[in-house]
Amino acid sequence: MDSLFIVANLKSNKTYDEAKLWLDVFKTIDKFLLEEKKIIICPSFTLLKVFKSFFSDNNLKVSLGAQTVSSFDEGAHTGEVNAKQIKDFADYVIIGHSEERKLLNESDETLTQKVNLSLRYELNPIYCVQGKDTFIPQGVSMVAYEPLFAIGSGNPDTPQNANQVASEIKTKGEHQVLYGGSITNENVGSFTSQPNLSGVLVGGASLEAQELIKIIDNA
Ligand code: PGA
Repeated sequence: MDSLFIVANLKSNKTYDEAKLWLDVFKTIDKFLLEEKKIIICPSFTLLKVFKSFFSDNNLKVSLGAQTVSSFDEGAHTGEVNAKQIKDFADYVIIGHSEERKLLNESDETLTQKVNLSLRYELNPIYCVQGKDTFIPQGVSMVAYEPLFAIGSGNPDTPQNANQVASEIKTKGEHQVLYGGSITNENVGSFTSQPNLSGVLVGGASLEAQELIKIIDNA
């Protein structure tokens, strides 16, 4: 069986001290779970190095992802963090999250540029779509289906509908599909048991490391 992916999107949360506390709890996880499932933690840029060193020092098999990437390559682009820089710390990058789409009004072209640059530097895009008709750039292998009504609302999609949308997304290309939106340790199993879903993307519930451990356990 393919491994199950649990992606934790910490969003714009955690100072350095808060991250250290989170990591101290997370490290109590049963290491067997990290062998069995593929865990990808996505903290803010400022924390990527802290997380990377911690996981390596504590022998925890966890991958890292960034929450976004510049649509420009390295160069004179003040404030941007580019794919080549991220690759120093992470193997994944979330692209096209709806919170960012809403703030920045990004076009399909800009998002495609982000995907292309990520692939050039061997960063795997986790490409967020809001429904089955959202455009997906060439080269994306991991797609996260995140309906707007479900994000941060406590009102997840039904596992059956998420599975149906995932099957439609899969007709468009060789995609592994994750579901994201109000995942908790109580509902995660009903999503990960769906045949067309390869895992989940967790937002709010991952802010407490103990809750994330439960989610990983129940997935
Ligand atoms: P949520 O967020 O789990 O807090 O709903 C999911 C996401 O935005 O990726």
